[in-house]
Amino acid sequence: MTEASLLRAAPDAIATAARRVMARCDELARVSAAEASIERVYLSPEHARVNRLAAEWMRELGMRTWQDAAGNQVARIGDPSAPALMLGSHLDTVLDAGRYDGIAGVLMALEVVRLLRVPVAGSGADGTGADGAGGWTVPLPFAIEIVAFSDEEGTRFGKALLGSSAVAGTWNDAWWGLTDAGGVSLRRAFLEFGLDPGRIGEAARRPDELVGYLEAHIEQGPELDRAGEPLAVVSSIAAARRFQLVVEGEARHAGGTPYDMRRDALLGASEAALAVERLCAAEHHIVGTVGQFEAFPGAVNVIPGEVQFSLDLRGEFDGERDRVWDALARELDAISGRRGLRWRAREVHSAPAVFCAPLLQDVIEGGIRSTLPPRSEEPPVIFSRAGHDGMALGAIADVGMLFLRNPDGVSHHPDEAVSAGDVAHGIRALAEAVLLRGTQRA
Ligand code: GLV
Ligand code: MN
Ligand code: MN
Repeated sequence: MTEASLLRAAPDAIATAARRVMARCDELARVSAAEASIERVYLSPEHARVNRLAAEWMRELGMRTWQDAAGNQVARIGDPSAPALMLGSHLDTVLDAGRYDGIAGVLMALEVVRLLRVPVAGSGADGTGADGAGGWTVPLPFAIEIVAFSDEEGTRFGKALLGSSAVAGTWNDAWWGLTDAGGVSLRRAFLEFGLDPGRIGEAARRPDELVGYLEAHIEQGPELDRAGEPLAVVSSIAAARRFQLVVEGEARHAGGTPYDMRRDALLGASEAALAVERLCAAEHHIVGTVGQFEAFPGAVNVIPGEVQFSLDLRGEFDGERDRVWDALARELDAISGRRGLRWRAREVHSAPAVFCAPLLQDVIEGGIRSTLPPRSEEPPVIFSRAGHDGMALGAIADVGMLFLRNPDGVSHHPDEAVSAGDVAHGIRALAEAVLLRGTQRA
């Protein structure tokens, strides 16, 4: 601990906290719709199960808990009438996921509350009230809320950040008609989960209820691992757009149709996928991914008459990202013209780049410094190519993020990893950042 540290916690307590985070990540990994892999999507039975577990852990800390109108699991501790510093991340996953993306950040936030909470004077509290309320508080000029967001990934309905958009009050009623792979609409999924679509507005929070939003997350890229650094301050979160595209040609006999009569949708879509790579590489800090690609009718002896594919575009700045999309649309026109195809696209997600608030970057930097020997180099500052709930929260609150090294940058994959040692540093840094936020004005 450096002299500047505000956190009065034994190193042992932090090591124990980190071990608990690792063990709970393992426990949540077992809550999966798939037998041999991790799969936990929005409004599924697994979503309900992890919310119940998280709520139990939140109540153990003396926090008041509720599930909001969008299925986010929320907890609060501290002055009931004060605005809150929100800490959080998400518990939903991609398909065949790792066990730390989002999850580690939620569990680390719980450990921060464990380190910071104090008994309410004269309560004789043990913090185990029936609804978790009372008994404990935080010695800060604001309350702390933890939100386990329900849908950061967009795995089920294609539209990411549904949970955090509801909290940010930016829910769009057009989303109710989105359907999952089985044709279930978002509206029906809400009802089946036991949520009332008519009450979605109740999840929305007002800017004056929050003093900021802080999230810890694994980096999901290799920069920290390459630099040999455990933690970084995040400067901004990438701008993102997602599309579902369709290329239409004509399905015909694979043997009888000469090349000059073919209108092969798969070859056109393949050219488009290669163009994504070429156009992104020509821009600074833009990445594009075609992650879904399906040919119809999908028979070995039929020329593909239609291809449906996805496009995920990210960039540090909205303008560069949009330039790539415009160039790709022109490229698709040209490919279609050459090959006698038609194409169309539906945009399913769009989020502008979000810049982390300088004040919160400062407290995260201070938090990281508390984990380093005095007079160390400045902690690294990096921009996030991955999307996060903070992108939505930026509409109502200052956003700050702390990144943890994940070895080799492997993420959205079962081999995703983080070390208990880095989690311990991360917990200390996040707790210290919360305390530092408490020393700032406004
Ligand atoms: C979420 O992890 C995303 O960046 O897609
Ligand atoms: Mn993810
Ligand atoms: Mn994530």
